Amino acid sequence: MTANSTSRRAFLQTSALAASALALRSHSLVSQSTQVDAHIEVLPGEPIGVISPEIYSHFIEQLGGVVYDGVWVGEKSKIPNQGGIRTSFIEMMRAVQAPVLRWPGGCFADSYDWHDGLGPRDARPSRAGFWDQQDSNHYGLHEFMRTCRLIGCKPYLAANVRTQPARDFYQEIEYCNAPAGDLPSNSAALDEPDALATLRAANGDRDPFNVDLWGVGNESWGCGGNMTPEEYAAAFRRYTAWVPKYGRDLRFVAVGPNGDDVDWTTRLFKALYANPERRHLWGLSIHYYTSGSAARFADGDALKFGDDEHYDLLTRGSLMEKIILDHWTAMGNLPGHPSSPGQPQVKLVVDEWGAWYNKGTELGPNYNYTQQSTMRDALLAAITFDIFQRHADKVGVAAVAQSVNCLHSLMLAQGDKVTLTPTFHVFKMYLPHRGGQAVRAEFTAPAISNPLGSTPIQVGGNSYIGALAPVKTLAGLSGSASMAAKGSGSGNVLILSVVNPHLTRPMTTEITIHGASAASSTGMVLASHDIHDHNDFARPDAVKAVAAEVIAPSGGKLRHTFPPGSVTTLQITLA
Ligand code: AHR
Repeated sequence: MTANSTSRRAFLQTSALAASALALRSHSLVSQSTQVDAHIEVLPGEPIGVISPEIYSHFIEQLGGVVYDGVWVGEKSKIPNQGGIRTSFIEMMRAVQAPVLRWPGGCFADSYDWHDGLGPRDARPSRAGFWDQQDSNHYGLHEFMRTCRLIGCKPYLAANVRTQPARDFYQEIEYCNAPAGDLPSNSAALDEPDALATLRAANGDRDPFNVDLWGVGNESWGCGGNMTPEEYAAAFRRYTAWVPKYGRDLRFVAVGPNGDDVDWTTRLFKALYANPERRHLWGLSIHYYTSGSAARFADGDALKFGDDEHYDLLTRGSLMEKIILDHWTAMGNLPGHPSSPGQPQVKLVVDEWGAWYNKGTELGPNYNYTQQSTMRDALLAAITFDIFQRHADKVGVAAVAQSVNCLHSLMLAQGDKVTLTPTFHVFKMYLPHRGGQAVRAEFTAPAISNPLGSTPIQVGGNSYIGALAPVKTLAGLSGSASMAAKGSGSGNVLILSVVNPHLTRPMTTEITIHGASAASSTGMVLASHDIHDHNDFARPDAVKAVAAEVIAPSGGKLRHTFPPGSVTTLQITLA
């Protein structure tokens, strides 16, 4: 712990002691404050794009305690479940209105045979999965689809491109999407002569699963096959050309870079566009994790960190914006530089993001990559969402890695013990943005210097390590703005989300809305006395979002004080 955080705690303790005395007077105190530390200028006349609800998507993998325990507890479990699926997981995903759920990996996907998870559970083969774990296959395709139905979300399947031929992929699409009945079939198995739709019905699901989002492999530069971009481009074409569609527009997602590997994207698009037959490419996946350590990937401690490490992690997390811009450019999306004239624009699919720390806070030996999640991680999640929203025209889908019991989770679960992380609250706080029109907003606040921003930044996923140039400053205040979706019942409402990453400095901010006047405002705030604060099984409500104290607008402008180390969302009704 550094001197800075001690002084912050002292500040907060003083504030806390004074808080009750000041509570009744707080409105007038804030409104009387003449000092303004920062400005936010919102420009509703400068739309960016509609915020896809799918940027708030999810990811689960057969890894550690994610699926087995986090999601699947089995029908006979004493843990409350719905047909074997943990009820608290379903409830958590409903609470954040999860739009899309990705499965079965991750690296696990590229050695997984989807046939293994079909049929009576007791007869399914047990296999060694990618993560050195025995997989009973009790959680298979039908269980996953049932999970999605219970949550009310769309499935996003990652196909195995490393160890299965293209035919298995065609058959998986047929199995998922062919209408019920005995149809001409891609099934070539002598012992399974039935159309795959008939087999699906025999396994309990007569109606098609209607999966339209398909990841064609995962991290094919690493655990997905150690391919070059040119090799992967050839595989992508082979797996996606002339696949049976069953009347649906399939959204194929190609494997994109690890972090900011622009060379991968440039060469991949060159190779893909060399053949004009590329109408199936809908999205390019990006994986960007923020390591807990400036010096090493997947290092640092989830709970024990100093102030410098806090600022450094958020600085490196903010690089998501550079990564989006770099790859958008590399894909040939800049005006006047179309790589593929006449073709629809390829979207970015950030289907793995989050903080990645070293071991030390996992729930137990079988919980590979579970880690605790503090207020720092909540701020990282908010900064990430704000970046996605500022680039609503580019990012079509994004999925946190992973929803439960792994890396940047919303929930930790072990047996009958469950807790929600601070990141869960950020997902909830950002709900009003969904489907809204993102608009430009300018933030002016003193930047925070990053004392650790002097060495190259290690980035990577499970398979590949690269480095980015050091970054020396972090925005003193950042966020995003949107006009609430028409028909959301919110009328003429501006949604503004703001992160104050500073550990001791409250930011009194003047908010101006160009071309409109603020009439009233409500808000939610997630803040805590200590940035290390987190929820655990013993104290599941230690950190949670509460209603923000807002003061009435004056002269059409709003003044708001954003507490240190906080995430705030304001809903501002315009006159
Ligand atoms: O999310 C954990 C792992 O990180 C995924 O399996 C892989 O895709 C990435 O490297």
